[in-house]
Amino acid sequence: MEAKAIAFESLREERLFPPPPAFAEQANLRDPEIYKKAAQDPAAFWAKLAEEELVWYRKWDKVLEWEPPFAKWFIGGKLNACYNCLDRHVQTWRRNKAAIIWEGEPGDTRVLTYQDLFREVNKLASALKKLGVVKGDRVAIYLPMIPEAVIAMLACARIGAVHSIVFGGFSAEALRDRINDAQAKILITADGYYRRGAVVEAKKNADQALKECPGVEKVIVVNRILKTQISMEPGRDLWWQEVMEGASADCPAEEMDAEDMLFILYTSGTTGKPKGVVHTTGGYLLGTHVTTKWVFDLKEEDLYWCTADIGWITGHSYVVYGPLSLGASVLMYEGTPDYPDRDRWWDLVEKYRVTVLYTAPTAIRTCMRWGTDYPARHDLSSLRLLGSVGEPINPEAWMWYYKYIGGERCPIADTWWQTETGMHIVTPLPGITALKPGSATFGFPGVEVDVVDDVGNSIKEGGGYLVIRGPWPSMLRTIYGDPQRYVDQYWSRFPGMYFTGDGAARDKDGYLWLLGRVDDVINVSGHRISTMEVESALVEHPAVAEAAAIGKAHEVKGQALAVFVTLKEGIKGTPELVQELKAHVAAKIGALARPDDIFFTAELPKTRSGKIMRRLLRDIAEGRALGDTTTLADPGVIAELKERYAEEERG
Ligand code: PRX
Repeated sequence: MEAKAIAFESLREERLFPPPPAFAEQANLRDPEIYKKAAQDPAAFWAKLAEEELVWYRKWDKVLEWEPPFAKWFIGGKLNACYNCLDRHVQTWRRNKAAIIWEGEPGDTRVLTYQDLFREVNKLASALKKLGVVKGDRVAIYLPMIPEAVIAMLACARIGAVHSIVFGGFSAEALRDRINDAQAKILITADGYYRRGAVVEAKKNADQALKECPGVEKVIVVNRILKTQISMEPGRDLWWQEVMEGASADCPAEEMDAEDMLFILYTSGTTGKPKGVVHTTGGYLLGTHVTTKWVFDLKEEDLYWCTADIGWITGHSYVVYGPLSLGASVLMYEGTPDYPDRDRWWDLVEKYRVTVLYTAPTAIRTCMRWGTDYPARHDLSSLRLLGSVGEPINPEAWMWYYKYIGGERCPIADTWWQTETGMHIVTPLPGITALKPGSATFGFPGVEVDVVDDVGNSIKEGGGYLVIRGPWPSMLRTIYGDPQRYVDQYWSRFPGMYFTGDGAARDKDGYLWLLGRVDDVINVSGHRISTMEVESALVEHPAVAEAAAIGKAHEVKGQALAVFVTLKEGIKGTPELVQELKAHVAAKIGALARPDDIFFTAELPKTRSGKIMRRLLRDIAEGRALGDTTTLADPGVIAELKERYAEEERG
């Protein structure tokens, strides 16, 4: 990790938004003493909730076994995540309640009641079993935002198969690597999906990936696009509807151990290779369930909409497991916010009377730029709570969201968490917490969040590193196939503490302010990208000798990717080559990693030991005065680079 001084100037925020009385009166959680009570004995706090909130086949023998940094929760306990999301609801009047209200980008709609979802999940679970999937097997899912994505996840959970979802925007190569790392034997995908009115051919990408995935035995293909002709490999590829036809609608849920793996989800780390974050059944389900209930305050009659894609952790925890285990009605939308026009989201809120909306700051800033006319065209009065996730929300965007979307009546839950944490970690409790625009407020009850200095001492007021002391139920258990990486990455920087990779500050009132990543991970539009991954993609290109990728501040995306590239001898840095290199990165990783800027340079600024000084490159890209350059091998390089960069920006 590059040492980075963490300064924090904007602790001067004085605006305070206490919970509106009408909201507080009806909130699921009203007891301000909850923090104190939970802190007295966190394990007992979680155990009580596990007993009250989830259905177990067998109660655990022991709540927690903590052999740092490896934790086990609810040892000996048996349950099934799918049972908790479906079976327990279909045994009640909720069987006729909408579980998923779905709208496709072209405007087609589907509603699945809990009974519908239960039937489809049972059928797919039976079908997967018939195809030879057994408990513990990995199933890769590469699907768009269609109900089949939820059906596939829950079918896996039902039979104890481990799902590994790959975001639909990832490239064929990224898909291939993730399938192979997880040794998945089934892939579930679709022929395509709609995006901004066009068809994206997912199956083509999958076919490309599958050329180098020898372990995949069967591919199940959802027919989303009616008119597209796609190739189906005989013996390997099966249409979803064929698989479902005749499959038994009665496939009992497997009794899973609380510590059995529920899913793997790949995320970017500080090295070139994505890591498979492992979540297990009991603790993960408990964490997502309780946070959904308390942070989103979900009630029986709510219509809840989380705009995240199923391919990210937010989609896992807060489109599927949290809300469905609560028996909530979830809105799911396939497409983009600006199709056919920039008011599509607000149209959906009005049409379905959405009550709780959870989205990302980058989306809010995009809407801000489009202007208030779009939300003003719609009646958004059904909304009662707003959520934010993925990156720091700047006070200006917070205020805009509060005013123009929430009508100055809805509390905003700015939730800080990660793929690894499984559930919200720093978040307001909307019936209790007085909000400050831009602050994610406090650690969730029962989780010991802290801000520490360079050597791990707690900082009462000021900036430092965000850590979590001790285990929490929904924490990742390991990195798939690489426990050492788990230890090194999260538990070695500060002994005995989980290091989040984020900087944070605590103000005089104890509020936490997230300051972004302090490692080589950047956050573009709320998506984590490893600078190392981008660099290794670039040096694979025949023209590139060396590359240094950095995140630079961006008004809408939060951060944008800028890359400094040195070319091989005799190769000229033309505008065409810039385009080619951008396309190359997109093909290697996915469109989300396409750099905004590529800048050619004869040399990169390096320390005498040969380490690229990314900090200085950030200064250049953001047009700041250069920081300390005394450790540079050749200070001349940087001065010239700065001048040329500024020139290019101007021109
Ligand atoms: O830097 C933090 C940022 O997103 C990172 C986690 O990314 P990922 O695992 O992809 O999960 C995103 C959705 C949970 C964190 O290390 N981040 C997430 N939420 C916030 C945030 N930064 C500031 N404020 C947030 N609310």
